[in-house]
Amino acid sequence: HKDLLGLKGLAAEELIFLLDTARPMKEVISRPIKKVPTLRGRTVMNLFYENSTRTRGSFELAAKYLSADCVNISSSSSSVAKGESLYDTARTIQAQGADVIVLRHPMAGAPHMLAKAVKAAVINAGDGAHEHPTQALLDLFTVREQRGKIAGLTVTIIGDILHSRVARSNIWGFTTLGAEVRVCGPPTLMPVELTQTGARVFYRIEEALEGADVVMMLRIQAERQQQGLFPGLREYSRLYGLNRERLSLAKPDVLVMHPGPVNRGVELGHDTADGPESVIEEQVTNGVAVRMALLYLLTGGGAHNEADY
Ligand code: CP
Repeated sequence: HKDLLGLKGLAAEELIFLLDTARPMKEVISRPIKKVPTLRGRTVMNLFYENSTRTRGSFELAAKYLSADCVNISSSSSSVAKGESLYDTARTIQAQGADVIVLRHPMAGAPHMLAKAVKAAVINAGDGAHEHPTQALLDLFTVREQRGKIAGLTVTIIGDILHSRVARSNIWGFTTLGAEVRVCGPPTLMPVELTQTGARVFYRIEEALEGADVVMMLRIQAERQQQGLFPGLREYSRLYGLNRERLSLAKPDVLVMHPGPVNRGVELGHDTADGPESVIEEQVTNGVAVRMALLYLLTGGGAHNEADY
């Protein structure tokens, strides 16, 4: 592959190869000196049309830990604000020497359009409500590292599924690797197309949590809500917030995950966000390792010295 645009359609072997490649990368970032020369002379451009803390920061760190140069461009402080199109912006970045363009954009399909227009590798860092493949890869890595496997586990994703690119990418990733995926949320925030993905749909959180190995909580995406879809934060929290009583319905060794940013007091309280089951900070660390692996593979590294993974 030249690009990583989504997890839909990727084979289990490709996902496993990428997750295996991230393991030695995680070892690099646990060292006191977090730098290897692997991508010296390569250039990574982060092009972000939406806000980000984790994804942008971890792509920048991933590039720097591998000795690549990294430049961050955000729509609000670039010539995008003067009316330059995504296409012209990307061609400009490529003309400056980008080997990899990491794109976050509010429109579903924007990275796919870009991938056709440039020779550089394009990584989807979140496109509208469509996919957020590197988030799902770090989630897969975290579960595999914590549990030693993914096949046969029950993964429950709770929240604003309708607007969640994280949920979509995780449904593809976890089902491809043999997990049972449950999705749960208010009926108004549950997309109809989910019935075709293999995910099981629940509207009562207690049923969705019963016997779960992994509970992935999502925030309500206030910036994407349309009038009438959303019950209100207090009502949402009462119906779908994760408290200790509800968590006790899951397996005793359940993992509590969240892609961040967390809206504390809404989907998670301090007792569940910071409880012994929480691997939220581990997810963030793993995000750097997975993105290092991806930059390495898309710039020609890998077991067979191919861009393929
Ligand atoms: N999980 C995630 O994508 O977080 P950011 O929006 O902070 O990048």
